[in-house]
Amino acid sequence: MSKPITTASGIPVADNQNSASAGVRGPLLLQDFHLIEKLQHFNRERIPERVVHAKGSGAYGIFTVTHDISRYTKAKLFAAVGKQAETFVRFSTVGGEKGSADTERDPRGFALRVYTEEGNWDLVGNNTPMFFIKDGIKFPDFIHTQKRDPQTNLKSATMMFDFWSKAPESLHQVTMLFSDRGTPDGYRHMDGFGSHTFSLINAAGERVYVKWHLKTQQGIRNLAAADAVRLAGEDPDYAQRDLFGAIERGEFPRWDVKLQVATEEQLAEWEARTGWNPFDLTKVWPHKDFPLIPVGVLELNRNPLNYHAEVEQAALSPANVVPGMGYSPDKMLQARLFAYHDAQLYRLGTNHQHLPVNAPRCPFHNQQRDGAMAIANGGAEQNYHTVEAGGSQPQGLGHGEPALALHGGAGRYDGRGQEDDYTQAGNLFRLLPEQEKQNLFANLAGPMSQISDEIINRQLGHFDKADPAYGAGVRAALKARGRNIG
Ligand code: HEM
Repeated sequence: MSKPITTASGIPVADNQNSASAGVRGPLLLQDFHLIEKLQHFNRERIPERVVHAKGSGAYGIFTVTHDISRYTKAKLFAAVGKQAETFVRFSTVGGEKGSADTERDPRGFALRVYTEEGNWDLVGNNTPMFFIKDGIKFPDFIHTQKRDPQTNLKSATMMFDFWSKAPESLHQVTMLFSDRGTPDGYRHMDGFGSHTFSLINAAGERVYVKWHLKTQQGIRNLAAADAVRLAGEDPDYAQRDLFGAIERGEFPRWDVKLQVATEEQLAEWEARTGWNPFDLTKVWPHKDFPLIPVGVLELNRNPLNYHAEVEQAALSPANVVPGMGYSPDKMLQARLFAYHDAQLYRLGTNHQHLPVNAPRCPFHNQQRDGAMAIANGGAEQNYHTVEAGGSQPQGLGHGEPALALHGGAGRYDGRGQEDDYTQAGNLFRLLPEQEKQNLFANLAGPMSQISDEIINRQLGHFDKADPAYGAGVRAALKARGRNIG
């Protein structure tokens, strides 16, 4: 039987098809509160979309610890093999708006939340182990080049390649973006990466640095560029449909969660040998230097019931690490530690952590009170903290973390021209099978054939430095499109 319709205050609605009017023809009556409430709420349905990663899909699941890493971290989640915790994951594209196509060439967000007994651990990563830039101060500029031109309101290959060609540190990720990995076949067939260097702290207060990896058990599958373009028209919600449908059918996607681990001394030795800063997000830690160790399994097995409440209003942040975990000096990570909560205060409001998808699944106590939409407002608990008071005492974030040694004085350091932006990009290029190299050339030549000779030449210079065959291949692909660049 259908449920009776009520107002938001629970009052049964007499008639939801005919507004109350003065006479058969109207005008309408101000006292038709149900009509007014209905129109008012409709007018307020939209909230700001995420400034990046606006188009996304979410699902709940379970994280299971399969291997003992308690020698590295005292996080209670990892205290015993077999421990489980509930999770939420939101996948996304980056540059497009909330209604944009799922198959766009773009990195994919892979944002994992684990509801641990010590609070929410969020690993807000991508499907790529590196990023385009290494300093968060460039992030708004970079993202603007991925959005719309301020005058034409069109996406612009000129803006993108102007930026990339003047930021050679982007070459590593540009190479991945224009390879087949730039158009994954839905969200189930791609890996996830925490990307940054994070840290773990054990019960003895010792720190190691780590990188998190999520390896798809479904196998990597990418879309051919032409199929991605076709699907953008035929089924712009392709990845959402694929994920939701698979979970409804009981085909629960799984990822093996793995770690690269290094001590501070090992990283210092590696940096001396390679010249690469281990906290530079445009670089990876090669597996041969830091092999993957197994940690656990992530399974997604439950679709949210309500997209807006649970996926759109999800608010994940890389700042959310639990005791036994820590950050690193990575300048990108440091900027992100500020950016997410701030964005969510604007996008969702002061008390967004009270929403069910965001609230921790463990007891929590603080002295934050009131503000719009306060739901979990502390009840009758004391609303101030003193050292002497018997209430909750600080013991979480940073607790027992060893001091971080600093290098050099406070200042702005420009590493341009001194850092190696090319070797790892070249290594990635050389790893690609021949057909994938050809795809890379063609995928780059598409947008590059629309831009000026000056920008093309600057970008080709970077490809040449990564590998002469890389530059030659893109030149040939450009020539095939009628752009004959020397
Ligand atoms: C979302 C900022 C770099 C992955 C966001 C949001 C902001 C932001 C403001 C929207 C948050 C929200 O409204 O909930 C930044 C800044 C960066 C940066 C300032 C650089 C300094 C990165 C990097 C990665 C990443 C390097 C991946 C390794 C994501 C993901 C989301 C996101 C996956 C979507 C989270 C979700 O699904 O709700 N970013 N970001 N971002 N960012 Fe970043």
